[in-house]
Amino acid sequence: MSMRLPFFKNKQTTDIINKVLDSPPEHVAIIMDGNGRWAKKRGLPRIAGHKEGINSVIKIVRSATKHNMEILTLFAFSTENWRRPTTEIDFLMKLPKEFLHIYLPELIEKNVRIDMIGDSGALPAHTKEAIQYAKEKTKDNDGLLLNFALNYGSRFEIMQAMKQVIHDIECSKLTVDTLDEAVFSEYLYTKGMSDPDLLIRTSGEQRLSNFLLWQLAYTEFWFTDVFWPDFDEKIFEQALLDYQQRKRRYGGI
Ligand code: IPE
Ligand code: IPE
Ligand code: MG
Repeated sequence: MSMRLPFFKNKQTTDIINKVLDSPPEHVAIIMDGNGRWAKKRGLPRIAGHKEGINSVIKIVRSATKHNMEILTLFAFSTENWRRPTTEIDFLMKLPKEFLHIYLPELIEKNVRIDMIGDSGALPAHTKEAIQYAKEKTKDNDGLLLNFALNYGSRFEIMQAMKQVIHDIECSKLTVDTLDEAVFSEYLYTKGMSDPDLLIRTSGEQRLSNFLLWQLAYTEFWFTDVFWPDFDEKIFEQALLDYQQRKRRYGGI
């Protein structure tokens, strides 16, 4: 039986991808944007774009586990998205359950731990319960942390943290002198998580839309015009490759 020859035409690409595999960014955050425009371009209702976006989510989760990433934070619903029509909000709130109903077994099998950041109190019960169930089922996994930002707003997060800090100072659990950046970070939803190394935003918009304002202080940004439902592992790997070329100086030389 003859051995199959390696496909040399793609050797350079393979080498580069292997290099990424050696040292992937630990934490990637993604602003999944452009679902509505993806649908509009096809003459479909906006919700068709949100539904299609689920396929991109699982593709990127699979790629993140393949590249041994530690954290993948996905911006799924912002505190400002309540301004949308009720029918669209209702549909968006059903997506976590739909996604987890299909993919939770695979996520468990891949050793993924599920968590969320954001104000869960304001979510509908069925959304909260779906997330809570997945969190519980995956709490002992130590592979990729798949972190959904749901009803997340950075300014709200920082305000809440500030209020809690003041409360803890008032009841002597904390002193002004011991409060520093590291301590303050422990009051944020992202407590215990490293800051994102790479932020990706799809759909051509180049803004943060109130996402992780504190945590992105030294993050590398990567933008693409591709709408979220068209985003796939190839484009994701392109972002990872570009990230590898960046020089992160943190103010040094
Ligand atoms: C991202 O796509 C999903 C959410 C913000 C919930 P959009 O719904 O913002 O799609 P566009 O930006 O209108 O195309
Ligand atoms: C940001 O996208 C929020 C999410 C991707 C969940 P938006 O579509 O809401 O952002 P803006 O309104 O264009 O800034
Ligand atoms: Mg948008």
